[in-house]
Amino acid sequence: MRQDILDYLTAHEGEFVSGQRISEALGISRTAVWKHIKVLKARGYVIESYTKKGYCLREAPELIVPEKIKAQVQTEFFGKQFIYLEKIDSTNTYAKKIADSGAPEGTVVLAEEQRGGRGRLDRSFLSPFAQGLWFSLILRPSFSPMEVSKLTLMAAVAVTKALHRCGLTECGIKWPNDILVHDKKVVGILTELHASAEKINYVVMGIGINVSLTKKMLPRELKRIVTSFAMENVEALRADILKTVLEELEHYYISVSENGFAPIIEEWKVLSCMMNREVEVSAIDRIFKGKAVGLDEDGNLLVETNKGTERVLAGDVHV
Ligand code: BTN
Repeated sequence: MRQDILDYLTAHEGEFVSGQRISEALGISRTAVWKHIKVLKARGYVIESYTKKGYCLREAPELIVPEKIKAQVQTEFFGKQFIYLEKIDSTNTYAKKIADSGAPEGTVVLAEEQRGGRGRLDRSFLSPFAQGLWFSLILRPSFSPMEVSKLTLMAAVAVTKALHRCGLTECGIKWPNDILVHDKKVVGILTELHASAEKINYVVMGIGINVSLTKKMLPRELKRIVTSFAMENVEALRADILKTVLEELEHYYISVSENGFAPIIEEWKVLSCMMNREVEVSAIDRIFKGKAVGLDEDGNLLVETNKGTERVLAGDVHV
């Protein structure tokens, strides 16, 4: 029914139509019309409304058109299988299910909205309708499960490069794989692995990029720590960002299979926004402060403290 209201408003674009007219045309109550309009507004549709005049559609959010992405993305296999969902709990959860039943490498699952978007360390990830890119990529790499954390570093490098190409030139990586602009998070990456001791069955790489999210949409606790393309005053279409990200991801993925991870570790350091800065580390068993000075060959963060150099294998780091 919501789609019917949208179609009706689109057919009368630029014109005010009363709630009464819509309710009669579609055979629903005026209260139902009002409720659907409220949801559409929350989804980014700009609908002007006045008690006497009714409703007028002024602007629609840019939705992803999978056929266009598939046709335009310059990749061999990333994004060539594309599952587009309007709403889901988490694209990672969905991608794991289809990977279990054999979905091929390079399959992308993208949702306009996630109701249960997940982040690292069991955190939730805000993913409102059409305000960002919330998607998961299925990979079936042939290397050992031990290497998977480096695959996450590779993703951070690839996405950072893509964002630079899309005009967000000041973003950099916070260990292990958040992407920040002016110390606020614009991208989160959640890599999930299904493997036996010696063989990876599949990896689901979940990526969340804040695009048109505004400060008003953020809950209080996120206002200080989250940003988006829009909040940084960088204009870019979601479709263009998605294509660029998939192209960079495939480029780096192929390069890793040919040359290993060593060049990625070097690039990661160059693209990091935390090298030589004072950081606070929340490791599994303790919290300590020091200066981030590098990455070792396994992708662990090296932090110089007054007791010597510490190696951070897992946890969280604050700049
Ligand atoms: C983090 O910030 O800790 C990682 C966030 C990862 C979010 C993305 S959005 C698409 C995919 N689906 C999820 O539920 N999470 C990832």
